[in-house]
Amino acid sequence: MIVKVKRFNKHKSSDQYIQEFEVENSNALKVLFEIKQKIDSTFAFRSSCKSAICGSCAIRVNSVEKLACKTQLNENDLIEPLNNFKIIKDLIINLEKNETLIKKSNAFLEKYSKKMVTNEDIKQIDLQSNCISCQSCYSSCPVATVNKEFKGPTVLTKVYRYLEDKKENLIKNKLELIQLNGIWDCTLCGNCTIVCPQGIDSKDDILKLRMKSLQNGYSDLSNKNSFNFGFDDNFGFNPNGF
Ligand code: SF4
Ligand code: SF4
Ligand code: FES
Repeated sequence: MIVKVKRFNKHKSSDQYIQEFEVENSNALKVLFEIKQKIDSTFAFRSSCKSAICGSCAIRVNSVEKLACKTQLNENDLIEPLNNFKIIKDLIINLEKNETLIKKSNAFLEKYSKKMVTNEDIKQIDLQSNCISCQSCYSSCPVATVNKEFKGPTVLTKVYRYLEDKKENLIKNKLELIQLNGIWDCTLCGNCTIVCPQGIDSKDDILKLRMKSLQNGYSDLSNKNSFNFGFDDNFGFNPNGF
């Protein structure tokens, strides 16, 4: 079977290029190993668990985000690195951006509360807690492509998870940090939900974060940014919408 792989090596060229390989395997991760071990040892990709648990092998196949270890390839499929990240080499992306977005959103436990946590409480965030940080959702997000500051579905789902965690005491702080370049910038296209290998519905988490924000006195920032048909806030005509 022939597969195509989008490659990048900054020491050879500043552009990505597509290379075809003839391979025997059909599982995508096995194909990547076959290329590296039998055809070109300089080929670079990430993997670890080989069983859809660690999230490290996420790639795009024919422009759709997949975990390589649980994906079967067909003739002429195109394998690419995830979108919306800088590429280090071939299929290896730079994950520093995700760390930065987590820090900017405080998407972690900030202030430990000694409240009793029941099994019901744990169930509330069970799904979101299963995130394997594969970054497929962020790769699929059209807003992240045009707005580098957008917090993105991976981080917003994490924020939701910690906001709902009874062990977290600093709720207001987290809500504040996701107002700008956050929940109101999402177009609710649902790509993130479609590609998540864990069945996490980031779009729905974002909707719940919007509801929580409104209940806590925040307002929809997107109203201020939306197209106003040439009329400014004082109903004067303003053809440029400034
Ligand atoms: S639903 Fe929102 S966060 Fe998810 S991919 Fe679409 S724009 Fe991005
Ligand atoms: S929410 Fe899903 S797609 Fe996004 S990083 Fe977590 S596991 Fe991957
Ligand atoms: S190698 Fe761990 S998810 Fe594929």
